[in-house]
Amino acid sequence: MDVILVRDYEEMSARAAEIVIAALRQKPDAVLGLATGSSPEGLYARLIDAHTNDGLDFAPVVTFNLDEYVGLGPDHPQSYRAFMNDRLFDHINVKPQNTHVPDGLAQPLRAHCAAYEEAIRQAGGIDLQVLGIGRDGHIGFNEPGTSLGSRTHVAALAPETIEDNARYFAGPEEVPRFAVTMGIASILDARRCILLAGGAGKAEAVAAAIEGPLTSQVPASALQMHPDTVAIVDEAAAARLRRADFYRWQDRNRSQILDRL
Ligand code: GLP
Repeated sequence: MDVILVRDYEEMSARAAEIVIAALRQKPDAVLGLATGSSPEGLYARLIDAHTNDGLDFAPVVTFNLDEYVGLGPDHPQSYRAFMNDRLFDHINVKPQNTHVPDGLAQPLRAHCAAYEEAIRQAGGIDLQVLGIGRDGHIGFNEPGTSLGSRTHVAALAPETIEDNARYFAGPEEVPRFAVTMGIASILDARRCILLAGGAGKAEAVAAAIEGPLTSQVPASALQMHPDTVAIVDEAAAARLRRADFYRWQDRNRSQILDRL
């Protein structure tokens, strides 16, 4: 995994935006995998800015979101569909029919999960997947213990995830207990991944994911198996990384070889 250490949230968002924008310039009809949560919000603001001020065209872009709460429809203000419309889709020229978020109201859910996997396949697979990381090391809603071979499935939220996500709801009791999430194997199928992590609360999960053993107990550690993942980590979230100096050194030297890659 490539690790880029940055000062703060702003720099994390800027570095992520550079990568996404470069990918879209290279492949205008790219399939993007998107995440919700506070980690990618700054990235989305920069993509909106690139669209509004630099004409970045999202018309040919297709998106697939990682997850959605079971029981929340698209009109529910705390649904991930509403989050995406509000933070990104409503402000760029992506075609609404090209944006995919799992349907938390689908029945039967299992058939919907299989159809979601199929839709990703039909679209040609995900070119670039944006990921946050949960305090417990989850990606999407793949909590510790989820099979590393999992595909899109219905997942139970861990108590700490319910606690963390309660900030978006009136209280923890309002947070749905289940979600539809792309599985770990579905995520690993993406051609490229960007993992965003900021803040001291993520330090332990980040160290376990990047430098710990590959284990289903830390779902993000599965990214160690992925051939093209970059983790962009701010100072606070990097506090427990043992090889931080190496990552800085590597990042500084990268510019010397960029034109030969
Ligand atoms: C949520 C989402 C994840 C997200 C994580 C971290 O539970 N399902 O996709 O990455 O929490 O959220 P945040 O970025 O707000 O810290």
